[in-house]
Order: sequence, then structure tokens, then C-alpha cells
Amino acid sequence: MVGRPLLLLVTVITTLGACEIARTDDTVAGSDARTTDVAGIVRLSAPADSEIPSGALGESIRRGRALLAATPDSLPHNVGGQLRCTSCHLDDGTRVNAAPLVGVYARFPQFRDRSNSVATIQDRVNDCFERSMNGRALASDSREMRDIVAWLAFLSRGIPVHRDSTPRGIPLLAAMTPDTAAGRAQFTTTCAACHGMEGQGTPAGPPLWGPKSYNIGASMARLRTAASFIKYNMPNDRPGTLTAQQAFNLAAYVNSHARPDLAGKENDWPRGDAPSDVPYATRGRSTGN
Ligand code: HEC
Ligand code: HEC
Repeated sequence: MVGRPLLLLVTVITTLGACEIARTDDTVAGSDARTTDVAGIVRLSAPADSEIPSGALGESIRRGRALLAATPDSLPHNVGGQLRCTSCHLDDGTRVNAAPLVGVYARFPQFRDRSNSVATIQDRVNDCFERSMNGRALASDSREMRDIVAWLAFLSRGIPVHRDSTPRGIPLLAAMTPDTAAGRAQFTTTCAACHGMEGQGTPAGPPLWGPKSYNIGASMARLRTAASFIKYNMPNDRPGTLTAQQAFNLAAYVNSHARPDLAGKENDWPRGDAPSDVPYATRGRSTGN
């Protein structure tokens, strides 16, 4: 459903900028080589397909990759909308500033403020199933979870455990006061062609709000996370063309719409340390914004 825009981007890059592709090999692990294209997009190199082992492990790795790229079709009981994992973890989880998954296996287990507990990588994958995918957790011992973990571990090959040697997450922009009306006007001209006037999604872009999108408990439902993702990565065919203020305006407009609820969300950040842009009340912090 979404191959075309990326293909277009690759075509533009190939024709305009083949000679401008830069490589840096200044980090510890061989698999942390990066490429930067003309649009300023930085990608981490995933291990080559030729490194996928033969036999059962290799088959599991390949199935895991396919699950992340075709999540709603492959796991209809666990996905509540139309997003796939790679709707946000762009370029098969290799894109810096789009929560890259290269190296992610080396960052777990990890303490998480939101749950006030130590999360395994399976727990973290299930957080995205229950929130970003508005779906249901996979059993940790299911074949599908083993396949996803096998793929994430393969993507993290050669990266030292708990050394934080690869970029992670979506670096947060400094908070700004958004202008939601300006965001609406800009959405019409800059985003609606792919995501639909009603944010419902089209063949060229996934849903941004409504019943088929991420739910209220997803990180993307937070203003700063969405603004930062949009600033670095959207519009998909021209990333890097928006100012931070425009990204905040757009994020506020996108997140001003109704989306699915998440049962038990008030139990998040049980120590009362919810960030100020969490859009719902939690125990210990009474107001969302
Ligand atoms: C709506 C967008 C969205 C979708 C869809 C989504 N995620 Fe995420 N995911 C995020 C965000 C945002 C983060 C947190 C990034 C941060 O910490 O800055 C994240 C974090 C993660 C992490 C931890 C990354 C790290 O470096 O700690 C894993 C693993 C992960 N997601 C897996 C998945 C899987 C598997 C799926 C599909 C089942 C999925 N995600 C779907 C937005 C999404
Ligand atoms: C050329 C088509 C295109 C345009 C224009 C575009 N997007 Fe996207 N957008 C995509 C695609 C495609 C993805 C998912 C990437 C994938 O599946 O590989 C995406 C993903 C997203 C996501 C994360 C997934 C989700 O559905 O929540 C957000 C948020 C988003 N876009 C917001 C915007 C905003 C805001 C604008 C306007 C500034 C915009 N996009 C413009 C194509 C587009």
C-alpha cells in the first residue's frame, strides 16, 4: 500500500544525488555504518540478506521482517487498525529519527518510566501492539513473537549490548505552543493528498486519526513526539521541508481528533512523573493537555 512514495524518493535520490551519498564509519560496530541521502535522511545499515543464516533461524528472521512490513494482513487478531510497524519505524526500521530498530535488541531489558518496571524486548514490542497498533499483545512464546525477536536481533547483529552505540528514538524538539488552525490549513495543502482530508489514510499513506490509527496511549499521541516525527520525516516525499513551528501546528491538528481509547491508561507513569504532553490524566497527575 505504501511502496510507491518511498520508491519515488529513492528515484529522486538516485537521479539527483547518487554522488552525494556519504558514508561514515566512525562508530564501533560494523553494522552501524550510515548513509545520508540528499534529503538529509540518515539510515543505519542493516546486515546484508546474505548474512541471514540458512535453516530454521533464517526462516524465522525472514518471517519477522515480513510481519513488521505487513502487520495488519499477517496478524489481524493483534492489530486493531491499518498501521503496520514500518508506518512509523520507517525504511524497515533503519531510518534515524524514526525510532530505528537497528540495534534495538542491544538496548533491552530496560527500565521504563511509563510502566515503572523492567521491560524485555517482548514487552516493548507488545507495547507497540497495544498502543501504536491499537491491538492485542502477542504471547511471548508464540511463533510470531519469536520471529519478530529473531528479526530485531538480526538487525542488531554486531552491536554491543547496552553500549548505546546506535541512535535511538525520535529526538524531541523543544516544546512550542502550537497553532492548531494553522495546522489545519497546512494539513490540507501538505498532508491530505496521501493521508486523506479526514486523516483516514489512502493507498499512499496510513491513517492519522480515527478508528484505524494509533490509540490515545501511543507515544505518537503526544504532541512533542508527533511534532518531532513529522519534522524529521514528513511529508514523506519531501522530509526536512517543515519548520519546527509548522510541525507542532500539524501535530496539534492531527492529535486534536478522536482516536481509539486505551483501557487502563490512567495506570501509566504510576510514580506520577508523566511528561506534560501526555494527553490523559494519570494517577498522580490529574490534567492532560
Ligand atoms: C504509530 C507509530 C508506531 C507504530 C505503528 C509502531 N511503533 Fe514502535 N515505537 C513508536 C515510537 C514513537 C517509539 C518510541 C520511540 C522513542 O522512544 O523515542 C517506538 C518504540 C518501539 C521499540 C523500542 C525502540 C527503542 O529504541 O527502544 C520497539 C522494539 C518497537 N517500537 C517495535 C514496534 C513493533 C514491532 C511494531 C509493530 C507491531 C511497532 N513498533 C509499531 C511508534 C510506533
Ligand atoms: C507523499 C505521501 C505523504 C505525504 C505528503 C505525507 N505523508 Fe505521512 N506518511 C506517508 C507514508 C507512506 C507513511 C508510512 C511510511 C511507510 O509505510 O513506509 C507516513 C507516515 C506518517 C505518520 C506515522 C504513521 C501514522 O499513520 O500515524 C505520521 C504521523 C504522518 N505520516 C504525518 C504526516 C503529516 C503531518 C504530513 C504533512 C506534513 C504527512 N504525513 C505527509 C506518506 C505521506
